[in-house]
Amino acid sequence: MKKIAIFASGSGSNAENIITYFSARNSARVELILSNRSDAMVLERAKRLQVEAVVFDRDTFYHSDRIVSLLRDRAIDYVVLAGFLWLVPANLLAAFPDRIVNIHPALLPRHGGKGMYGDRVHRAVVEAGDAESGITIHRVNEVYDSGDIVAQYRVPVMPSDTPEQVASKVHALEYQYFPIEIEKELLKF
Ligand code: GRF
Repeated sequence: MKKIAIFASGSGSNAENIITYFSARNSARVELILSNRSDAMVLERAKRLQVEAVVFDRDTFYHSDRIVSLLRDRAIDYVVLAGFLWLVPANLLAAFPDRIVNIHPALLPRHGGKGMYGDRVHRAVVEAGDAESGITIHRVNEVYDSGDIVAQYRVPVMPSDTPEQVASKVHALEYQYFPIEIEKELLKF
């Protein structure tokens, strides 16, 4: 059974969905939640679901090997970013080559890059008049939203859609497909 660590900065609804998905399967389990925010709702979810959670600060993340050591201590095989907003440092990328995956709530390369997260992405889709949006699941490298694409799924955007309506369609795709794509990826290792 493979061990997954999830990094999340916010609500953590994807993290919860991934924990629940793997708790019913033998392929993997979520061993650890990591967050850069001590007030993130993902920490409450981790507690309720009885998954160990760790909060870290910027200095620890960027100027020490403590996170990599923690992941090694817990024998983590695979890392998932689910609403995690910080760029991943070189030491973490080197420790998990091709084993870090992110989800972006749009069809990259459209509407990606630094500062493009959450509702900002859905507003940009509506403002651009895009006829579709979706999700991009991609491997993580040293540049925001630019690693190899693992999978994309699409939904139509109607001219009358608000950013909130686009968000809700995109979230549905995230919940349906992110755990499955993680499972396919981690079984390659
Ligand atoms: C999701 O839309 C995900 O695509 C993006 O950040 C959002 C996180 O939502 N990267 P949640 O914290 O999982 O509820």
